[in-house]
Amino acid sequence: MNDNKVKYILGIETSCDETSVAIVTSERKIIAHEIYSQIETHKQYGGVVPEIAAREHLDRLDDIIKNVMEQAKIDYQDLDVVAATSGPGLIGGVMVGMMAGKTIAATYNKPFVAVNHLAAHVLTPRLSEDIHFPYLALLVSGGHTQFLLVRDVDDMVELGTTIDDALGEAFDKTAKMMGLPYPGGPFIEKLAHNCEDKLAAVARFPLPKPLYKKPNCNFSFSGLKTAIARHIQSMPEGDIGASDAQDLAYAFQDTIVEIIKDRLSRALDAAHHENGSALSQMVIVGGVAANRAIYNAIQNVASQKNISCVTPPLKLCTDNGAMIAWAGWELYNKGISHPLSFPAKPRWPLGKSSVSN
Ligand code: KG4
Ligand code: ZN
Repeated sequence: MNDNKVKYILGIETSCDETSVAIVTSERKIIAHEIYSQIETHKQYGGVVPEIAAREHLDRLDDIIKNVMEQAKIDYQDLDVVAATSGPGLIGGVMVGMMAGKTIAATYNKPFVAVNHLAAHVLTPRLSEDIHFPYLALLVSGGHTQFLLVRDVDDMVELGTTIDDALGEAFDKTAKMMGLPYPGGPFIEKLAHNCEDKLAAVARFPLPKPLYKKPNCNFSFSGLKTAIARHIQSMPEGDIGASDAQDLAYAFQDTIVEIIKDRLSRALDAAHHENGSALSQMVIVGGVAANRAIYNAIQNVASQKNISCVTPPLKLCTDNGAMIAWAGWELYNKGISHPLSFPAKPRWPLGKSSVSN
């Protein structure tokens, strides 16, 4: 791509419980962005219900696209690329977003880019910050927990992942057992922050650290869930008291922090090894990046290894249309676009295959 005209990219995200659309330019400007969260709808079920999510995307998406086009003050003809999340995610929602994107692309004869949602998360820091390949990405959300060596737009190597629950899921399940609302991560963080005697809390509620010090970069959180359930069962019947809840939340979060420090240290070494030379940058993306204790622990480990660590603004860290538009541009700019026959993929692991059918 060597003409100097600013390009306009429409991005559509519908893979989970956010219906979001953005228009981003090739000059890294978000000129319009709308995110509709379905959280109030799903709260009553304690988690995202796929069928309901798909219907809500269908109800909302057309209006959101219209709003965003109005905000941007451009016409569909002015778009240069149309990008839509094509997986991994809840298949009904992914299909709704893809069909809308494909229809716009077909009607106005624009290139369509099928974006891998995970790749979009880890490329987004390049929209908001000066990040250069290669870098290490830690993706920690309600559905994903992964270390990726990001060598290029279409060249990402998974260095580690969770073998059971995602990190955000572990927060949400623990919160649910403690009687806290969904999504539970922010509530656990707040309780942990208010814990008065942190040493006593950790001593009172011992928890396992699955895979700690093991010679790989994987995570496991399901053993923690079982241990938390046992601690709760050993308490007197009824609601958990405020100070018990603060202690338990702190013990849980502190265990997570220790696990992440160990796994990250290994992942940075593995990235160095895989890359053949030292990295200088890493990024954290996904909703759990909002947790200050986790964020600070990651900063410490990274700075000990002379690596700068950045996280995009929270709005770009969680699911959003701007990240899809940006990833769409990064791919298109590398000569990658997709036929309208490209399928919706409920599973779509990252790696070399993350840009093709
Ligand atoms: O990226 P995200 O908004 O949605 C996806 O899962 O794609 O991440 C949501 C997850 C939820 O599991 C939520 O509990 C967790 O991020 N989360 C947190 C915090 N804020 C959000 N977990 C721990 N501490 C937080 N402050
Ligand atoms: Zn996501």
